[in-house]
Amino acid sequence: MTKHRTTRRGFLKTTIATGGALAAAGTARAAGDPAITEVQPWAQYLGDGVDARPYGTPSEYEAHVVRRNVPWLTADPVSSVNFTPLHELDGIITPNGLCFERHHAGIAELDPAAYRLMINGLVDRELVFTLDDLMRFPRENHVYFLECAANTGMEWRGAQLNGCQFTHGMIHNVMYTGIKLGHILAEAGVKTEGKWLLAEGADASAMTRSIPMEKALDDCLVAFKMNGEALRPEQGYPVRLVVPGWEGNMWVKWLRRLEIGDQPWHHREETSKYTDLLADGKARRFTWEMDAKSVITNPSPQAPIGHGPGPTVLTGVAWSGRGTIPRVDVSLDGGANWQAARMDGPSLPKSMHRFYYEFDWDGSPLLLQSRAHDSTGYVQPTKDALRAVRGENSIYHNNGIQTWAINEEGVAENVEVS
Ligand code: MTE
Ligand code: CO
Repeated sequence: MTKHRTTRRGFLKTTIATGGALAAAGTARAAGDPAITEVQPWAQYLGDGVDARPYGTPSEYEAHVVRRNVPWLTADPVSSVNFTPLHELDGIITPNGLCFERHHAGIAELDPAAYRLMINGLVDRELVFTLDDLMRFPRENHVYFLECAANTGMEWRGAQLNGCQFTHGMIHNVMYTGIKLGHILAEAGVKTEGKWLLAEGADASAMTRSIPMEKALDDCLVAFKMNGEALRPEQGYPVRLVVPGWEGNMWVKWLRRLEIGDQPWHHREETSKYTDLLADGKARRFTWEMDAKSVITNPSPQAPIGHGPGPTVLTGVAWSGRGTIPRVDVSLDGGANWQAARMDGPSLPKSMHRFYYEFDWDGSPLLLQSRAHDSTGYVQPTKDALRAVRGENSIYHNNGIQTWAINEEGVAENVEVS
């Protein structure tokens, strides 16, 4: 495992023009460019008709905008992960076809006509719902991020993967349409001693997680639409559990069963997995909430600065499982100096937020960092501060500040500063 470390020395003296709203001056080309004065090929024939593309797909020139996996992490693709191309996206919504996937037993292909959701355990009435039955409950729409607790997990011992798609791409941010879990639980009638809920998937892994009743009744959804259309098979078609702000593993896909109990079940995903082994050999358990985190998506290793000195747009995303992100700071010199980024777009709780920082790049090397503040006052820690508390055994919940080193050519590399 290579460990890239770099020092802040040498960056402190770099003069950095301040950010803020810059006019687009200095970015245009001279008049007379044949790409605009000549009639282009696409204007010389008729294009496809409205019958050619019944379900639209991106332009052929966007073919590189895809989910990718890391071959050495993928011993077998049916029990693996791919990553959202964060550096190709803007705004806050992840398009359905680009949402990262994490499967323990491949993509289950459920027939919606045969779909059933069962509720059993400590309830007054054990029930089974069809999809049509579920559609008769009142629906809600919410935008939430889903982050796998293992996101950035390969970076605990040092900078490793060269691209925000791989370091931070186990996240997506989607508008869900669904039913409050509380409505369904009320129909079954939870007994007073029913304090925990076990959610089980219908895929071959039959993945399960225990969820405290308080959370189940607070904001969990039984969702069947993402960004307006049916869930994709990859995301749990026809029904998945939405557990806002909490680790992705709890968002059971292909949801088939909800069992009510008086204590947690201590199944695999909450004992040998999704626990955080500390330096002293003890493990943190039930670390459900996702801490505030951010990453600069452009520039980044897969998206270098493609122009010389002058007006430069830096952008990224930030999120917190505890609320909104009122502020993100950006550093161009490895954390020596910080400036407030410009937040833009909707600021929704437990959703991704978009930030921008426009600056005049003087062509000298940069050490880019972003630092999220969430609505509880929590501030994203440095990687070293995080390691001081959690050690280096962990896989999960790495929300340390990411650094990209930019050289004079604008090429970006994953590094750590000390
Ligand atoms: N649910 C089932 N039934 N089977 C699974 O393998 N993977 C979990 C969770 N729910 C999984 C599941 C994990 S670890 C994560 S991070 C999220 O789903 C990933 O959701 P996504 O594939 O929509 O990105
Ligand atoms: Co996961």
